[in-house]
Amino acid sequence: MADASSAASVGAFRKLAILDKRRLTEHLLRLDRDSLRMRFGATLSPEALVQHAERCFTLGCTMHGYFVDGDLRGVAELRLDRPWLTQSAEAAFSVEPGFRDHGVATELFARTLRTARNRGVRRLMISCLTWNKPMQALARKFKAEFHWEEGEVVGTVIAESASPRSFIEELTEDALGYLAAAAQRRLALFNRAIQPS
Ligand SMILES: CC(C)(COP(=O)(O)OP(=O)(O)OC[C@H]1O[C@@H](n2cnc3c(N)ncnc32)[C@H](O)[C@@H]1OP(=O)(O)O)[C@@H](O)C(=O)NCCC(=O)NCCS
Repeated sequence: MADASSAASVGAFRKLAILDKRRLTEHLLRLDRDSLRMRFGATLSPEALVQHAERCFTLGCTMHGYFVDGDLRGVAELRLDRPWLTQSAEAAFSVEPGFRDHGVATELFARTLRTARNRGVRRLMISCLTWNKPMQALARKFKAEFHWEEGEVVGTVIAESASPRSFIEELTEDALGYLAAAAQRRLALFNRAIQPS
């Protein structure tokens, strides 16, 4: 994946599962007004953010997350145009301000692109506001080509075809990610159990 040494080394990357819905909601609710505007094009209300988190756990949507001490601090959302047999998909990113500029979104992007590739996607689209330079810099790292549409920039990244290696890499990272999450949950339960009441 992306150069691991540049990604924030304190956290862990893995896909989100349904059990992470609360963490996703909390992450979205922690985003400030500017971040919400850059992510959604508008400052969504808390209710709308809760509804958005609900919609993320549906067919055709895959989320990769960046976790620090069990909290979700960065997310990449991959939405296929159709749940299957589609060649295009859209990706969107959010990293909380205190965790930016450490390569977190770069790693999330690399994982998202590989998942898209493994689903047969050829064109991965990213839309952002024209003045969102960090997002454009990020997409440029993956050779995005840009075009401008009313107040928005749309980046298109062409994904390579899937390969046995890309499947095995995704599978391995999924297994390791879920294992680490399960171990962390057990450890948290254990620590709670041994605390004096
Ligand atoms: C866009 C965003 C996801 C990037 O997250 P991040 O973890 O900071 O990204 P990374 O650190 O992996 O990479 C960001 C790149 O942008 C560059 N960058 C940061 N600010 C910049 C600016 N003002 N102008 C140009 N480039 C900039 C960084 O230098 C870095 O490139 P580098 O690794 O070559 O140095 C984050 O800023 C964010 O959540 N913004 C709010 C939501 C949003 O804009 N979403 C995009 C719409 S889908």
